[in-house]
Amino acid sequence: MLPYMADTGFSEEREMKILVLHGPNLNLLGKREPDVYGTDSLTAIDAALQALGRELGVAVECFQSNHEGELIDKLHHTDAQAVVINPGAFTHYSIALRDAVAAIGIPAVEVHLSNIHAREEFRRHSVIAPVAAGQVSGFGPESYLLGLRAAVHLIQNRPSRHSV
Ligand code: DQA
Repeated sequence: MLPYMADTGFSEEREMKILVLHGPNLNLLGKREPDVYGTDSLTAIDAALQALGRELGVAVECFQSNHEGELIDKLHHTDAQAVVINPGAFTHYSIALRDAVAAIGIPAVEVHLSNIHAREEFRRHSVIAPVAAGQVSGFGPESYLLGLRAAVHLIQNRPSRHSV
């Protein structure tokens, strides 16, 4: 498929780009609690995201960090038009990450491998959810792929700056 060209509101258009952020401990996927998070490595998940990105004609940048500030810096400096984010444990308490998601003014899709609503009480609350466009939770690695499709949908269906 030809790359989808995002309407920048200026004369030139650019290829649509989506940033995928993985939070703490997700670098251990495949080895970490496989009964909860499955046996796929993060490398395999990123490869699947890149493959889906090619199929959909969008550029995908994947980034993992165990450090809150690095995730926030990545959000501040991204030139993507949407974000897919698995904040890991930061989901449940990082107001700083939530504020960064709210600050950057591009839509975010929150994803989780496990169904956080069916787990321990402390995992059932997400401080990110109120500033995300939506949440995909409980489908294993497929959560990321569904999240990527949702992010593409959000970009393609956002109100045009030329429509008023
Ligand atoms: C997780 C769920 C979080 O509660 C946990 O801290 C994670 C992974 C998930 O993808 O299911 O690190 O975000």
